[in-house]
Amino acid sequence: MIFGKTIVVTGAASGIGKRTAELAARMGADVIGIDINEPAIPAGRFLKGDLSSPEGVAEIAMALPDRIDGLCNIAGLSGRAGAVKTLSVNFYGLRALTEALAPKLRDGAAVVNLASLAGYGWRTEVERARDLCDAEGFPEVEALVARHGIGDAESYPVSKQVLILWTQRAAHQPLFKSRGIRVNAVSPGPVETPILSDFRQVLGDEKVDGDVARAGRAGIAEDIAPPVLFLCSDAARWINGANIPVDGGVEASINADVIGF
Ligand SMILES: NC(=O)c1ccc[n+]([C@@H]2O[C@H](COP(=O)([O-])OP(=O)(O)OC[C@H]3O[C@@H](n4cnc5c(N)ncnc54)[C@H](O)[C@@H]3O)[C@@H](O)[C@H]2O)c1
Repeated sequence: MIFGKTIVVTGAASGIGKRTAELAARMGADVIGIDINEPAIPAGRFLKGDLSSPEGVAEIAMALPDRIDGLCNIAGLSGRAGAVKTLSVNFYGLRALTEALAPKLRDGAAVVNLASLAGYGWRTEVERARDLCDAEGFPEVEALVARHGIGDAESYPVSKQVLILWTQRAAHQPLFKSRGIRVNAVSPGPVETPILSDFRQVLGDEKVDGDVARAGRAGIAEDIAPPVLFLCSDAARWINGANIPVDGGVEASINADVIGF
């Protein structure tokens, strides 16, 4: 499925990114992991880098080789680091890296963005999401956070709402579309990784436990890595601009409540 492809994975030191890098390497891909923290045992090559600033993104983009087949944008923060940092890593750094890497992506390559069930509300918050998405490049995030009055706890869902919106835009952005580069998102429900304890503090136990109950169990990183790599593969060649829930059915259950079916 991805044998022989060059796959870049951000967030490769922990959780979902770590598992995705390991699975990709096991499937015969040439893996390049990126993270602000060193992984204990890197799967493939590893590049230390910080996605939270324009300088950090530029350094990563410069250090990566040409001819990349898949970019898995998995690194993320929960909101506990503050709204500016969270929006910077989860959206602006991710988007800046993807756009900077466009010339190094092969024709027909794939980008997979780790969004979240937490971005579910993007349709009802579309005005704000559009405004945040319209700020080009790596903007002054502090000013945007102030303009929209985004609190730290809210910054996580907001970052994922904007990411889901941009994924759909990017699928039709000439930078990618003209060269057959597909851009999709995967939206997990609650997954047992180090970030989940942060979510319990930011979103509250009731919300997390409620989602776990809807699914029947919490997810594990191994539940998320295969769909991410499927989207990187040629088997997904006609999937573009999609946001795929990988959540044990949580979104369907919420839809049933919200829409009433
Ligand atoms: N675990 C969940 O319940 C869940 C649910 C939905 C979505 N997600 C998303 O999945 C992705 C992976 O999260 P996870 O659960 O594996 O969490 P995690 O905390 O285990 O991994 C996140 C990784 O991102 C890295 N990172 C953070 N800031 C960075 C920066 N500035 N530059 C480079 N790397 C940085 C961290 O060092 C860490 O290795 C995130 O985008 C998260 O929002 C997670």
